[in-house]
Amino acid sequence: MEKFVITGGTPLKGEVTISGAKNAVVAILPATILAEDVCRIENIPNISDVSAMINILNIMGAQIKYINKNTIEIDTRHINSYVVEHELSKQLRASYYLIGALLGRFNHAEVAMPGGCYLGVRPIDQHIKGFEALGATTRIENGMVKVEAESLHGARIYFDNVSVGATINVMLAATFAEGRTVMENVAKEPHVVDVANFLNSMGARIRGAGMDVIRIEGVRKLHGSDYAVIPDQIEAGTFMAMAAATHGDILVRNVIPKHLECISLKLREIGCEVRSYDDAVRVIAPEKLLPTRVRTYPYPGFPTDMQPQTVVVLALAGGSSVVRETIFENRFKYVDELKRMGADVTVESNTAFVHGVKGLSGADVVAPDLRAGAALVIAALSAEGVSGVDKIEYIQRGYEDFDQKIRGLGGRITCVKNPRDERKAMLRYAQ
Ligand code: EPU
Repeated sequence: MEKFVITGGTPLKGEVTISGAKNAVVAILPATILAEDVCRIENIPNISDVSAMINILNIMGAQIKYINKNTIEIDTRHINSYVVEHELSKQLRASYYLIGALLGRFNHAEVAMPGGCYLGVRPIDQHIKGFEALGATTRIENGMVKVEAESLHGARIYFDNVSVGATINVMLAATFAEGRTVMENVAKEPHVVDVANFLNSMGARIRGAGMDVIRIEGVRKLHGSDYAVIPDQIEAGTFMAMAAATHGDILVRNVIPKHLECISLKLREIGCEVRSYDDAVRVIAPEKLLPTRVRTYPYPGFPTDMQPQTVVVLALAGGSSVVRETIFENRFKYVDELKRMGADVTVESNTAFVHGVKGLSGADVVAPDLRAGAALVIAALSAEGVSGVDKIEYIQRGYEDFDQKIRGLGGRITCVKNPRDERKAMLRYAQ
């Protein structure tokens, strides 16, 4: 067991440096399967979703050399299998990117249905729609997605809903498809653009990533590349929310402020001062936060991955806020845990009605998924007294050195590995 023990009530202050983007790197790593040479990838976050993906690639035959904690060299030329079994793919949602990459390289992929955080039904019909438009046939047998093609050809694809996963996956498969692929109603998230940039750095011809239509001219091969992953928009947003909830003052470094615009605007709306610099943002929280309305939406809208952290902040505002989740149907599971800390939140269907309270109080809570786990840590940091946050393996999927970074800001958080350490941490904090 690993658990965070947190004593709240201290405003977090200082500087924090943001790591590479999880949702970019979990696609960039499978994308190296398409390369005919070694790739060097920098700014890789040291998180468990990345270790899981590296492990899968390693087992498939990729040679991986760590240059340092956040840089690897990866040579996928010796991969000779297009099958990924359930034991491996269940470890993370992003294992679905192996389908697009293997299909691109071998015209054949057999990958078990992906795992990941449970946020409601997470279909992959749009990924399949895209692969089939490129000329592949798909079967789902015994939990395996089996996709194969004689050859892949360019196509015009309209996605029925905006999907990060489908956009990236079809982009991976279409890189080698003969002729031109036009993808419409695509996701525009920064990590979609980053994956396109990575593929282009290897010789792909992808235009329009970050806009409504992506156009791909198929190429015959990709060479190696030396690439640095963009900073993580959601990790940055999480620390920005932490500043707000703890009435702190945090300089969030190594970010692309443009990617944080809509989070910054929301924080300004609720009374925070947000200053933007070239590669940093500073959030200075007021004594009293104001309520607001939030609706999650694909980029450049307000990210669903910031919804739980935002509810925590609004739970401490003076007045009532409304937060509507439009991307995932089951992303309010943490609310019951938050209520145990004294929050006043009611969920009706996809909407949370948040009535601000004066303060939260420490409690033992369980992280139900990655972002909700981070949100509960924020709640605990703002609360009076001691909290325990259990199931932190979810948080470790997506936040590098989370507790260490929080301690650097003056947060009192300890990661305990057994009940004895937990009792010791509780006693220390109680003094
Ligand atoms: N959808 C479909 N059919 C599909 C694909 C998606 O109906 O074929 C629906 C989903 O059910 C959802 C919506 O479309 O309602 C958007 O899903 P999307 O495909 O964009 O999500 P995803 O690819 O499964 C990625 C991130 C999530 C992030 C979402 C939305 C990765 C590995 N995961 O998931 O990240 O919440 O995009 O931005 O990139 C996280 O980091 O905590 C996380 C959950």
